[in-house]
Amino acid sequence: MATYVEGPVRVTVPATSANLGPGFDSLGLALSLRDELEAEVVAAGTEVEVSGEGAADVPRDASHLVVRAMHAAFDAMDARPPGLRLTCRNVIPHSRGLGSSSAAIVAGVALARALVAGGQLLLDDASLLRLAADIEGHPDNVAPALLGGFVICGREEGEWYAVPSAVDPRVRAEVFVPPTPVQTAVARGLLPDVVPHADAAANSGRAALLVAALAGRPEHLLPATRDYLHQAQREPAMPESLALVRRLREDGVPAVISGAGPTVLAFVGAGRSSLVDRAPDGWTHHVLDVESRGVVVE
Ligand code: HSE
Repeated sequence: MATYVEGPVRVTVPATSANLGPGFDSLGLALSLRDELEAEVVAAGTEVEVSGEGAADVPRDASHLVVRAMHAAFDAMDARPPGLRLTCRNVIPHSRGLGSSSAAIVAGVALARALVAGGQLLLDDASLLRLAADIEGHPDNVAPALLGGFVICGREEGEWYAVPSAVDPRVRAEVFVPPTPVQTAVARGLLPDVVPHADAAANSGRAALLVAALAGRPEHLLPATRDYLHQAQREPAMPESLALVRRLREDGVPAVISGAGPTVLAFVGAGRSSLVDRAPDGWTHHVLDVESRGVVVE
């Protein structure tokens, strides 16, 4: 029978950008926008309070994604808390390709582990990754949300892996967030079942180059961020985003669709002036650092 810690537990969790061009479902980067969450075991019921991004849209009951992730982790620890109170202060935009659902899932499993006395002994970090990636279905947002930094991830013989990789301290990101969301399921539905071998080969080369470019050769970021597998295929769902990516790239800026879109991410060097004037009307623009911290229990 599990016992629980007294009082609330707080976590913060970063936004993430997946794919980064050629790293479809396998590369992800944590960014310096963080949601804050607080949870407590209470006598009964499920109480959910949400402010900030997505507050108008998300449920306030056990179907809330954070609560579902918490219960998946509680189940894995054989814990049945009598009730939960959860507060979410959301900063990460929803359904924009900045990993808000992965942040919710990772925060949920981390909160549950922190609420159970001895939770660290019952669930190690590999178990958190497995739980979170199983819920999300792919690891490229949950892995950097969990670990921070730049992560190479995937699945081998049924087991998720996540390998942190270096990022040159000169590398920063500017993101352009459009006002209209695109659901990941819609964006994934646009992908073809089959791609030409030449495209697959070119994409593999770019993904490999991207790891080296981020690690310390940022002068290669423009070719390294070229994708052959998903961005153009998703254009019907986000034509303005693709148009912005093309304009930026024509000007030599390594720009990509962030995750399943529609946000556009551009890599910039430390000294580069802001690209804010490239943001289309009505879009939000952020200059972000690569976030070295993943989910943090405070
Ligand atoms: N790799 C995923 C995709 C990220 O592009 O569909 C979205 O969660």
